[in-house]
Amino acid sequence: MSQNEKVDKVRRNLVVATTVAGGLATVGAAVPFAASWLPSERAKAAGAPVEADISRLAPGEMQVVEWRGKPVWILRRTKAMLDGIKKSDPMVSDPKSEVPQQPDYAKNEFRSIKEEFVVLEGVCTHLGCSPQMKPMEAKAEMGETWEGGFYCPCHGSKFDLAGRVYKGSPAPLNLPVPPYAFVSDGTILIGDDKKGA
Ligand code: FES
Repeated sequence: MSQNEKVDKVRRNLVVATTVAGGLATVGAAVPFAASWLPSERAKAAGAPVEADISRLAPGEMQVVEWRGKPVWILRRTKAMLDGIKKSDPMVSDPKSEVPQQPDYAKNEFRSIKEEFVVLEGVCTHLGCSPQMKPMEAKAEMGETWEGGFYCPCHGSKFDLAGRVYKGSPAPLNLPVPPYAFVSDGTILIGDDKKGA
């Protein structure tokens, strides 16, 4: 193996290690989560849709899958979380999701096909860091009016549990909702919304 090939190999390994560490940081939030970073073989093909098994996702838990090299969060929201989203309306910049950061079927109060499950690209719309989930119990850290959501530690952007950006955040837009469909009650297809049941 030539010197250049060796350097390339080390670089590739570093990229893999960094990606995994980033994924773990993303899911290492202060809430329970059911599954960690498990890119499927299909995900490795450029742009291929990925299936997520959500059949064991309990209320309040978040699952992270990789799609097109990005973390995609699937959060099963509780009734209290949905109520918190309603209360966050006055605090977010685009409460009605007027900016097309989601497919039409997610342009609604909870930015989702089913109220319970939200699917979001976990990449901050400011400069691309991955925000961390902060539950509503984190009021001491996030402020008295905090109803649960996501916090980007890079420059302090805040998002609610529908991915709507808080007013005053450096991030200009809501977190994107990728195209997705329910293939069955327990399976979501991310990256393709034409195959849903
Ligand atoms: S990258 Fe998230 S606030 Fe800057």
